[in-house]
Amino acid sequence: MKALLTRRIPSSVLSRLEAVHDVERYDGPSPIPEDELRRRIADKHALICLLTENVSAETLAVAPDLKIVANIAVGYDNIDVAAARGRGIVVTNTPDVLTEATAEFTWTLILAAARRLGEGERLLRRGEWRGWALDFMLGTELRGKQLGIIGRGRIGRAVAAKAPAFGMKAVFARHDLSLDELLVTSDVISIHVPGGDSTRHLIDRKRLARMKRSAILVNTSRGSVIDEEALAWAMQEHLIAAAALDVYEREPNVYAPLLAMENVVLAPHLGSATRETRTAMAELAVENVLAVLAGQPPKTPV
Ligand code: GLV
Repeated sequence: MKALLTRRIPSSVLSRLEAVHDVERYDGPSPIPEDELRRRIADKHALICLLTENVSAETLAVAPDLKIVANIAVGYDNIDVAAARGRGIVVTNTPDVLTEATAEFTWTLILAAARRLGEGERLLRRGEWRGWALDFMLGTELRGKQLGIIGRGRIGRAVAAKAPAFGMKAVFARHDLSLDELLVTSDVISIHVPGGDSTRHLIDRKRLARMKRSAILVNTSRGSVIDEEALAWAMQEHLIAAAALDVYEREPNVYAPLLAMENVVLAPHLGSATRETRTAMAELAVENVLAVLAGQPPKTPV
């Protein structure tokens, strides 16, 4: 059968698919444009794509033979899952294999924000470091502080599991306390909910205003969960102390005022970006395609 792959994946993984099916790969330098995706998907039985591809109802409509959309990501807000379901198309994602990598990266961001790593590195590279001083670039200690986690899925729980190592107490919104209580009492707030309509701008002006002035806000989930304009406002008004973001509302664009803020750590969507994890994600997507095209149930349907 025919599969469309929208990006390069490790050759060891690709060869497993090529051994059984015809694979067409899009090799452009940036994500496949939507019209190109529509043109190429028309005669395919499987699509392996990334979160950078918008797989809309209109796109699915041009591919009558399509059986599976295998997203190489745990999030799937880039796919119209309801439209796929309506057409009997299976949608799969890549959970579990990226949980630890994303939890590790969340801690990378928490520590970078608490200890002003980005700001310090930029200053040093500008040649402005005047040497060690007792009161130079002081951050905040994590020990004894509360980590408020919004989203008690696999990644949220993996982040919480590492909290005791830093002397932090982890609490979950809606399990240990209400979201409002969590916002008011937490020193670090980390978001681990899925993207999509149900969580859009969950963190807005009102909720930012509830946070401690010393709070650090971290987001490794989806950019749409935070109203970026509201976040910039909250930072300008010193309503919270720092933010660390890995995801953005309009990737790869970042809301410009945030770029100018020293106390905002900005990462280019690296949560799952380890060699081990990215290979495992591609492998899982290919296994899902192999299963569905062989008439078997997928390993990880959404
Ligand atoms: C990355 O953001 C993913 O959803 O896997």
